[in-house]
Amino acid sequence: MLATQCPPEIAEFAERCRERIRNTDDEQRLTQEIARDLTQVLDAGFDLPEELRRPQEERYIMYPLYVSEDDDLSIASAVWNVAQGTPVHGHETWGVVGIYSGQETERQYEKPQREGVPLSALDQAVWSPGQVTVCCTIDDDVHQVWNDGDVPCVGIHVYGRDIGRLERRSYDPETGDQSWFVSTWPTDNDEEK
Ligand SMILES: [Fe+2]
Repeated sequence: MLATQCPPEIAEFAERCRERIRNTDDEQRLTQEIARDLTQVLDAGFDLPEELRRPQEERYIMYPLYVSEDDDLSIASAVWNVAQGTPVHGHETWGVVGIYSGQETERQYEKPQREGVPLSALDQAVWSPGQVTVCCTIDDDVHQVWNDGDVPCVGIHVYGRDIGRLERRSYDPETGDQSWFVSTWPTDNDEEK
C-alpha cells in the first residue's frame, strides 16, 4: 500500500528497499544498504506534504507512506512534537531512521535476555536533518527517542515488518518489566472510531 500523498522519491526508495530485501537475508548488510540509500534520498531532497509532517497534541504520530502486502517492509513519516517522546521500546524487526527536519535524541539500551532485570543504557546521540541511523536489528532493538529541540521532529522510518500492526515490547528500564503494544497507524484508529 502506497499512501496517496507519498512523495515519488519515497515510492522509488521503497522499490529499491524491496529489491534489497529480495537479494539478501543478512540483516546487517541489508540495514547498511538501506541506510546508504536513505542518506542519498534525504541529501537529494524531496517535499513531504504538510499533512504528513503534522504533529498531534497527545503523543507522537506515525503516518504510513508505504506498507508492503507481504509484511516485509513499512515506511513511515514519524512526527514528534516539541517535548514528545517514546517509552523505552523494542521493534522485533530491523529498522533504519533518517531525519527529515528537526532533531531527535536517542538513547540505546542493551536488549535484556530476560524480563525483570534492570536495563543497561548504552550510547546517547542527537540526530539532525540528513542523518541516518540503523536504529535496530532483531537482536539489538531497544531504545528511547524524544524531541528536545524547539521545533517538531520529522523522521523517515523504515522497518522490516508492518510497524503499525506489529506487537512489540515496551520496557520499564528501572525494573526490566515488559509490556506489549502496537503503535497503530492513524488510519486504523479512524476505522475503529
Ligand atoms: Fe523506535
